[in-house]
Amino acid sequence: MALAIIILAAGNGTRMKSAKPKVLHRLAGRTLLGHVLHCVEEIPHALCAVVHQKNHLELLKSTLLTESPASSQLLWVEQSEQLGTGHAVSMAIAALKERLTRELITQVLILNGDVPLIDKQDIQKLLEITNEKPQQLGLLTLEAKNPYGLGRIIRDNNNNLIDIVEEKDATNQQRALCEVNTGIFLLPYPVVTKVLKNIKTENSQGEYYLTDIIKLALLEHIDILTATVSNQENYAGVNNLAQLASAERYYQSSKAKELLHKGVNIIDPDRIDIRGTFTCDLDCVIDVNCIFEGDVSLGKNCLIEAGCILKNVKLGDNVHVKSYSLIENSIINNDCIIGPFARIRPNTLLENKVHIGNFVEVKSSIVAQGSKVNHLSYIGDSTIGKNVNIGAGTITCNYDGVKKHQTIIGDNAFIGSNTSLIAPISVGSNATIGAGSTVSKNVPEGKLTVARGKQTTIENWNRTSDKSQSIKSSES
Ligand code: UD1
Ligand code: MG
Repeated sequence: MALAIIILAAGNGTRMKSAKPKVLHRLAGRTLLGHVLHCVEEIPHALCAVVHQKNHLELLKSTLLTESPASSQLLWVEQSEQLGTGHAVSMAIAALKERLTRELITQVLILNGDVPLIDKQDIQKLLEITNEKPQQLGLLTLEAKNPYGLGRIIRDNNNNLIDIVEEKDATNQQRALCEVNTGIFLLPYPVVTKVLKNIKTENSQGEYYLTDIIKLALLEHIDILTATVSNQENYAGVNNLAQLASAERYYQSSKAKELLHKGVNIIDPDRIDIRGTFTCDLDCVIDVNCIFEGDVSLGKNCLIEAGCILKNVKLGDNVHVKSYSLIENSIINNDCIIGPFARIRPNTLLENKVHIGNFVEVKSSIVAQGSKVNHLSYIGDSTIGKNVNIGAGTITCNYDGVKKHQTIIGDNAFIGSNTSLIAPISVGSNATIGAGSTVSKNVPEGKLTVARGKQTTIENWNRTSDKSQSIKSSES
């Protein structure tokens, strides 16, 4: 007894008005197809097939690999012509047949690649209703507030499902019905293969509709069971960019509500975007228009001011990120203050009580406890000791045009403003560098090093007052 899964993703997606495959458009940072795969990854199954268009395969594979490593196990099925959902499922079943022994599969779960926010529990419901009788056909239907564009569920007087009629083929009376097809079917295998062969294209779009399987299954005396849900937002198909935007808003507002209930003080739940996994300890405050991408975790009592972007970041306790700062792939320990307008690039570790101020960029660097880089600096490929003060405008010149080089600064060093540290270089602990120095040799510890042109004053010098004279002389 095993389950196979088929995800339909070969449609033309013409309504998206985009050259990109529809299922590679992103919702909350993850592709639509990635969402569907994520939804089924915990359901035990023998094989999952994705039906795709011929020229989409490489792009689908490479994009999915970055967001779902399990995608390397998928069975990719090419549908060279988009003849409809019924045709797409037939192609996938034929491919599954080649891959798996007949006895192994008992049921096939069908999902649409453009319905990304499916509730896992609803799929469980569908699996449960057919649990005892896998030879029956299961369908997840939806009581929709707005059924427009969706296939209407037709029932007889005994409330038995007898057909699904697409919007374009429906009569006015049928269009008034609110129970619709979610596109999620549980088909009994292998009997369904026979039924699929009987699907015709006699409809307004001239396509092989999977939905015709209902009336054809009844002719073959296959019983049909339905589970009905009412959370329409979870079954909103994405067929155009307006639908994508409303699905995004729904997702974000559910995430914000969930976080508010967990005690995260989100100043305005309509102005936060979570594009990944976001966890927060007690008493964190998040001001408006912040974006959290990938894996982000905040310790206790963090304050994230307006307009910050955090991607794959771990913050300790009491971290204050001031407005409009961008932090990527970094670890920030307790009591740090960052920003406003700071950029912390990947592979950075800020130990406790580090201050990074406005217009400071830090990349691939470790800054130890208590150190401060408060204004207009670039710190790249550096290891900075404890309690170091880096003056305004200091730059680590880490790149010689070919290679990147390291800068090492010892504990308690004081780097005067506007210093250029030409890497590779090391500055000893307790060293002081005079402001405006361009330092290309290692700096000894505990001493003052100054490396700048000596200031001289020219006595008896007169600024020329005759402008015509000065032009003449410059021409000569
Ligand atoms: C489909 C259903 C409709 C249901 C709705 C739920 C049919 C005929 N209609 O309509 O009853 O209410 O989903 O969202 O099934 N696809 C292929 N190959 C094709 C055509 C489509 O793989 O030849 C894929 C698409 O990429 C998409 C899915 O099948 O992921 C559904 O196709 P779409 O054209 O979006 O159908 P809907 O009009 O949404
Ligand atoms: Mg659709």
